[in-house]
Amino acid sequence: MSDLDAFIAGLPKAELHLHIEGSLEPEQMFEFGRRNRVDMPFKSVEDVRAAYEFSNLQDFLDIYYQGAGVLQTEEDFHDLAVAYFDRLAADGGVHAEIFFDPQTHTDRGLPFSVAADGLLAGMRTAETKHGISSKLILCFLRHLEEDAAFDTLRAAEPYLDRIAGVGLDSSEVGHPPSKFANVYKAAGERGLLKVAHAGEEGPPEYVWEALDLLKVDRIDHGNRSLEDAALTARLAAMDMTLTVCPLSNHKLCVVEDMTRHPLKRMLDLGLHATINSDDPAYFGGYVGDNYRAVAGSLGLTKEELVLLARNSFTGSFLDEERVALHLQAIDAYVAAN
Ligand code: ADE
Ligand code: ZN
Repeated sequence: MSDLDAFIAGLPKAELHLHIEGSLEPEQMFEFGRRNRVDMPFKSVEDVRAAYEFSNLQDFLDIYYQGAGVLQTEEDFHDLAVAYFDRLAADGGVHAEIFFDPQTHTDRGLPFSVAADGLLAGMRTAETKHGISSKLILCFLRHLEEDAAFDTLRAAEPYLDRIAGVGLDSSEVGHPPSKFANVYKAAGERGLLKVAHAGEEGPPEYVWEALDLLKVDRIDHGNRSLEDAALTARLAAMDMTLTVCPLSNHKLCVVEDMTRHPLKRMLDLGLHATINSDDPAYFGGYVGDNYRAVAGSLGLTKEELVLLARNSFTGSFLDEERVALHLQAIDAYVAAN
């Protein structure tokens, strides 16, 4: 391991953009498929991995929703979450704000409680096992109608004391944030924080809408914001956190190759960027792999990597005191390394 890789591994960090269903490794897909007697269109783990060639977001989503079909019980969701947190701990992760897609599960007949209770149990296990803190964010699927998002918000009602916020994911182009303005307003009135995927494949206008109509607290991805100088200036001025996902961007052909990834440009423009894994089982790596990939291909300095780790805490939904403690831990790590 190079010195920089070792430095990255030990650097305290948070992950703010992780779809828990996207952490389903092919081996687990078979394990859950077997124990739940779910038929799968793949014969082997190698077959599954070979199918992970995507030319855009939709290619990936088709296979991702199919994979999620093996998740049937609370135990599955618990085990999925614990496996993710084990990986995070190995990567120096100490906090995560994880997404789940309730509609992917309720639309195939599972009660809302199966995913929610299983994930919340997994989050408690991670706290005990690794001392990792976490928050849960409920995502609405944007290819579905706003009425369906309202149904999901209603189903979540008994859990709102344990859900930090709402997000917006799935097929971006053709499903602008404006489609969800009413349900975001309702979520805000219930005290939920708000994030939304915007500017991954969609145009800068979608990022404007996420800011102005949804009144989001964070933008997920945000890459295409850089096409609009006024938007970039606004994001920098308001210190809006962008949860950037380098390996995802490469796998989904949002960027041509990693040397052209916009992360360094974002930092140079004063944007509050963070590094995240998105769907690590599908995109070739967890959060540490994402740090290493950009460090290598963009030639990031130690100082830039430390800034990215600091941004992951200052952009998190943790309270100020906890953020300050994590920043102190980074300072101590940097002083010792
Ligand atoms: N759901 C899971 N991963 C996603 C991504 N990268 N973009 C949109 N929706 C998603
Ligand atoms: Zn995502």
